[in-house]
Amino acid sequence: MLKNKKESTQSLFMLTNTFIILLLMVISFYFLLNCSANRERQFANAEQAEIAHREELKALTRGREIWFDPDTGTNGRSCESCHPKGEMTRAKSYPRYKHILRTMATLSMTHNFAVVNESKGKPWELGSYDANALVLYVMSLANGKPIQMAWPQKYRDEWINRGRIAFADTNFGNNSQSCESCHLKGGKKKNFVNSKVIPNLKGIAATYPKYSIEQGKVITLEQQVNYCLENYLDGLPLPLDDVTIVAFCCYLTSLSEGKKIAVARLN
Ligand code: HEC
Ligand code: HEC
Repeated sequence: MLKNKKESTQSLFMLTNTFIILLLMVISFYFLLNCSANRERQFANAEQAEIAHREELKALTRGREIWFDPDTGTNGRSCESCHPKGEMTRAKSYPRYKHILRTMATLSMTHNFAVVNESKGKPWELGSYDANALVLYVMSLANGKPIQMAWPQKYRDEWINRGRIAFADTNFGNNSQSCESCHLKGGKKKNFVNSKVIPNLKGIAATYPKYSIEQGKVITLEQQVNYCLENYLDGLPLPLDDVTIVAFCCYLTSLSEGKKIAVARLN
């Protein structure tokens, strides 16, 4: 009787131990999964990875062509003629407050300002192939540089805050959901909804523009926000220079501060 009791205490002890070990394994596996989530692009298969790689190189090549083209505008000045050797590492600090535009501007918006005012040309349609190709090329010049939001503090806090509020706003779309309904903890946590992976949004701003499998083209962060807004919140897509889209991008970029820019690169 006494022996039995001792034995059962012992086996209970062992069972508890096994349970704790298993629990620890599950927890560490979960953390590993979450941490590695943004280190590398996740593709369903090798074919998808191949398509993305090919399309990004194609866009990069087009972007470089535009950068060196003296006929981009009407005054014979290429982007390269004023920004030699691609000294555009400041791409790491967009969106950025532009006093001259009196607003926070994305890199695409800044390129349009440059082509009109410096090259005396026509602005690109935001989100078009050429506009995105140029952004991808300019971002690639800043590859490896950590994202560093060098905005005046006042504007920086104001716009990040605006984006954070919109992120949790259930009135933003038309299905009473907010970004936060899927992207938990302000987007800082990986999640699953109906067995679909909802990516952790930390660090992702450093990977745009990139090829989107869902959209079948190279997109900017602004376009990904619009995509979720339209497809997951039943909202209407916003113009890509809309203040709310830019505010979302500011908030999302704040989740990537310090993260090294890692867009496609030309060999
Ligand atoms: C005639 C000379 C000239 C040409 C041509 C020109 N730029 Fe610029 N660009 C400037 C000057 C000057 C500035 C302001 C520099 C500053 O803000 O410190 C500037 C600023 C910029 C910035 C902002 C940089 C920052 O500090 O954030 C970007 C981006 C940019 N140009 C892109 C382009 C692109 C893309 C083209 C080609 C379509 C182009 N530029 C053509 C002269 C030029
Ligand atoms: C119903 C769930 C859902 C909602 C709501 C939602 N998203 Fe998403 N989001 C996803 C899924 C799923 C993906 C994965 C890729 C895809 O489907 O485009 C994603 C991807 C993203 C990405 C790209 C991440 C990467 O790895 O590059 C960003 C950025 C993003 N969402 C932002 C937002 C913003 C901002 C909102 C609110 C306007 C929002 N999402 C609302 C489900 C959602």
